[in-house]
Amino acid sequence: MDIRKEFLDFFAKKHHDIYSSMHLVPDDPTLLFTNAGMVQFKDVFTGAVPTPVNPKAASCQLCIRAGGKHNDLENVGYTSRHHTLFEMLGNFSFGDYFKEEAIAFAWEFITQIVKLPKDRLYVTVHENDDEAYELWQAHISKERIYKMGDKDNFWAMGDTGACGPCSEIFYDQGSEHFNGEEDYMGGDGDRFLEIWNLVFMQYERTKDGELKPLPKPSIDTGMGLERITAIKEGVYNNFDSSIFKSIIEKLSKIVGFKPTAENIASFRVIADHTRAVGFMVASGILFDKEGRGYVLRRILRRAIRHGYLLGLRTPFMGELIDSLADSMGGHYEFLDEKREFAKEQITYEEERFFKTIDSGMAIFEDELKKSKDIFSGEIAFKLYDTFGFPLDLTEDMLKAHNISVDIAEFDTLMNEQRTKAKASWKGSGDASKEGDFKELLQKFGKNNFVGYTNLTYNSKVLSLLDDEFNIVEELTSGQSGWVMLDNTPFYAESGGQKGDIGALEKDRNIAMVEDTKKFFDLNLSKINVQSSIKVGDDIFAVVASRGEIAKHHSATHLLQSALKMVLGDTVSQAGSSNDANRLRFDFTYPKAMSKEQIDEVQDLVNSMIARGIDGAVKELPIEEAKKLGAVAMFGEKYGDIVRVVDFANTSIEFCGGTHVNNTAQIGSFYITKESGVSAGVRRIEAVCGMSAINYVKSLLDTQNELQSELKNSDLVNGVKKLKEQIKQLKTELINTQSQTKQEVAVQEINGIKVIVDIVQNGDIKSIIDDYKNGYEKVAIFLLQPKDDKVMLASGIKGIDANAGEWIKAIAPIVGGGGGGRADFAQAGGKDVSKIEDAQKAALEFIKGRL
Ligand code: ALA
Repeated sequence: MDIRKEFLDFFAKKHHDIYSSMHLVPDDPTLLFTNAGMVQFKDVFTGAVPTPVNPKAASCQLCIRAGGKHNDLENVGYTSRHHTLFEMLGNFSFGDYFKEEAIAFAWEFITQIVKLPKDRLYVTVHENDDEAYELWQAHISKERIYKMGDKDNFWAMGDTGACGPCSEIFYDQGSEHFNGEEDYMGGDGDRFLEIWNLVFMQYERTKDGELKPLPKPSIDTGMGLERITAIKEGVYNNFDSSIFKSIIEKLSKIVGFKPTAENIASFRVIADHTRAVGFMVASGILFDKEGRGYVLRRILRRAIRHGYLLGLRTPFMGELIDSLADSMGGHYEFLDEKREFAKEQITYEEERFFKTIDSGMAIFEDELKKSKDIFSGEIAFKLYDTFGFPLDLTEDMLKAHNISVDIAEFDTLMNEQRTKAKASWKGSGDASKEGDFKELLQKFGKNNFVGYTNLTYNSKVLSLLDDEFNIVEELTSGQSGWVMLDNTPFYAESGGQKGDIGALEKDRNIAMVEDTKKFFDLNLSKINVQSSIKVGDDIFAVVASRGEIAKHHSATHLLQSALKMVLGDTVSQAGSSNDANRLRFDFTYPKAMSKEQIDEVQDLVNSMIARGIDGAVKELPIEEAKKLGAVAMFGEKYGDIVRVVDFANTSIEFCGGTHVNNTAQIGSFYITKESGVSAGVRRIEAVCGMSAINYVKSLLDTQNELQSELKNSDLVNGVKKLKEQIKQLKTELINTQSQTKQEVAVQEINGIKVIVDIVQNGDIKSIIDDYKNGYEKVAIFLLQPKDDKVMLASGIKGIDANAGEWIKAIAPIVGGGGGGRADFAQAGGKDVSKIEDAQKAALEFIKGRL
């Protein structure tokens, strides 16, 4: 039974619109992954976006529950029913039907379509939900309805958002199979299996934890496809169902044995993780040190460790991805489309971990022997830092031994490393200077950036630092260092935008500003001092760089928006950098862009420029910004109030940078290069503003030069003609060469024409043909020096000798080999100096045959 299809058909018949599974990465930085069917409707529930015309919906949604609020990663492999990735069947009502119909629909589907026996079913309701308690009694007897508290019967997607009391349907797998202590309704055992959760969406939880009633009570339900399939197929473990069969069988083939009681857990973990990793990579998530990419890496490394336990020492997941794509790529086409890309990325990541896993395992085993209840945090950190063992992997390996990691020690080392990394990333290169920056922060607080609105400012020098970041009172002529102004118009490098340059003036220039950077929240400008500058000085700050930088930064936003239009929404920013002369934008995309795609993106950006769209910068509460659809960078920490740069809905991004007021100021935009940065990440380089003018000018200069060289104003035809001429000349050359008939020495031995000669020019093959055509009985062997090599060819006609054997015997003399047919053979050799020896030997050889 294809339960997925039955489910969607059932609800379509009940007038629900059927929605496809949404992307695994929600456009919401607070949510790690799509973790329920309701995520694609979360803003409909809260009223943030309008209700669809049909307020009834159903879907089968791919969900990931790893690393977020709903995290099942730790359970995979230890239970029969948890997965990192699963498919959730769900029906939804947006202010349309409520509890009564939701309960009736679920009951009808379970008992009449899936046909589960009623005497195996139980339900739970929230302890305060008398209404649901009453409604269920129309379908099932009171004794089978259990009241539970918030822990079991209140559901929320995340810490904020739509939520409400819920009611769950359970299936009793029978005491004959499960009779542990926890195998009672409500217990943790596997006997009573939760199969369907009906959430009665009634509230929105705000950031302060307050429950606000929703505009319209709604329905959100979720049923795990893997569980219901296993129940229907009469197996007691999801992994024994048809869904996982092909992957587990393929894995058996790879390892060369079938699962046994001892190693079945490893088979199951790998099967689960193959699905999660395969779908994640196909969705554009890349392996990374943090964020979603790190969850992905953790899942893959767990799978590899289980492969290691099964004896594997080289990448194996690629083949499993094939099984996965074969079995699920029909329904989820993107998985099939991205199959090769996913295999490539995953294999590469596997290779990396397989390089260190052996040494890591040895260190782990060593430390394990020494550990009683606690495993050294220092070793766990070393495993993490040097050998790529995520902490949760080490913890998982220790689980069976009932040993835990000294987390405090691990955290201390981790924090130390972060501080070091941060300090060097911030540019000081020296963690010990952190104290000086903190001192300034304490004394003055953050200095104020006034450069969004001012490119000049009357500022005061709050502090000065020398090149080594020591706080000083004065910098004199010829010295360089850093200045902290109370109000600074200089933008400090961030978000890909280069730091401002300019000048500090009193009566005349006193210092040139060469760069501006952030150090622990301080905005400092690098200065080259012309006359003295002192703490307390009042100066006039002038930004020199901004106009062209702003153009390139705004163009970067338009570019991102155009890329999403042309390549699809999965494109996401992987890095960017823009200065006064050029911009660079890195983004996730599996393959090189075609010429057409590049042209289309360039045209789109230019049309956005030509339309003269006004740019607006807004400071908004983060929730509102998200509602606008602003593009955020995942992994960035945003405050409650965010800055949003909006070009009239053409491009909306979270951004702290400086921008043009209207896209027309950008002038024009040209993509100068499209290239690959790493697997799955592409880079576009482009120019706009003055740089675009210079770019086009230099192209035109080149064009003019070419035109005068070619003496043809039509460059394309001119070049075509040249190529044509070259081709003709080549052909002529070849013809002339082969026409220069070679005089070769013809001897006659026993009435047979024998030619064994060295020829300098001409095509030896056609010379042989000529002589074969001219005589009835002939043996011919030609040698030709060509560059540093020797070409050999032999031909036989009308006599009992073999051209192939002949050449085979002679070629080694000139350091070569070869062979061929009895009537014709060719060979090549490397040693021109032996050409005459070879000639003599060839003659001897044939004499012996005549
Ligand atoms: N959103 C509900 C769940 O995930 C149905 O359980």
